[in-house]
Amino acid sequence: MKKNLKGKWALVTGSSRGIGQQIALGLAQLGCNLVVHGRTQENLTATLGMLTDFDVTVHPVAGELDGEAPLNAVIEQVNKVAPQVDILYNNAAISCPSTPVFEFDMATWMSVFQVNVFAMVKLVNAFGPGMKARNWGRIVNVSSGIADQPNLAPYSVSKAAVDKLTQDLAFEFKDTAVRVNAVDPGWIRTDLGGPDAWDSVESTLPGMLAPVIVADNGPNGDYFRAQDFKFFD
Ligand SMILES: NC(=O)c1ccc[n+]([C@@H]2O[C@H](COP(=O)([O-])OP(=O)(O)OC[C@H]3O[C@@H](n4cnc5c(N)ncnc54)[C@H](OP(=O)(O)O)[C@@H]3O)[C@@H](O)[C@H]2O)c1
Repeated sequence: MKKNLKGKWALVTGSSRGIGQQIALGLAQLGCNLVVHGRTQENLTATLGMLTDFDVTVHPVAGELDGEAPLNAVIEQVNKVAPQVDILYNNAAISCPSTPVFEFDMATWMSVFQVNVFAMVKLVNAFGPGMKARNWGRIVNVSSGIADQPNLAPYSVSKAAVDKLTQDLAFEFKDTAVRVNAVDPGWIRTDLGGPDAWDSVESTLPGMLAPVIVADNGPNGDYFRAQDFKFFD
């Protein structure tokens, strides 16, 4: 297990609020330098404020993940502020309004897949090869335990795609010290999870860090459940 991440650089997408903000906080506690990300610089103010007490370097990068051009701009900014990305934490995602399954329009399917899946693919393509070349890296793809909710099909189907992408990537990296895993945070009271969710956003730590601190020959292509780690240090 690698619990000291001093000198490593992580990009955490969607770290302006919710679970991503906790992931950024947890990584800072392990000494990791950070590129925090949200749609606007203003949205990142709270996260930057939470990270000031840590002895790590933090750079904000703002931009939409909802299309190829804005994604290219995000990647360009990350490359400007960080020497490399050692840990790619693909956390940002959107859900969709609860709708009878046969009535979703294609625009909703497309926008959910763009942010939740295609953006992930593009970020992996941007930062995965560097990890392979340096023979070290962690890619964590945030999934969901959502089941039996056809009224949220674009969201839940996008997470099934995330799980399959995770397995394919793990195979690509199997002979390296790059580990790729998926993680389900649990049902969490955030803007996405809603006020009736079972657990607080703070409960996602330390579990969301588990796929990062795995050994170099540790789990690869696995599916972590953050709430399983609730009672451990
Ligand atoms: N909450 C739950 O119960 C739950 C359950 C299972 C899985 N998850 C997963 O956990 C992850 C985090 O969810 P959360 O509940 O923390 O969500 P959240 O509170 O809604 O936060 C979403 C984050 O993603 C960013 N984001 C959203 N749309 C974006 C876009 N088009 N371009 C760029 N950034 C965008 C937001 O940035 P801005 O602040 O700038 O808008 C924000 O930082 C997601 O992958 C979600 O699917 C959540």
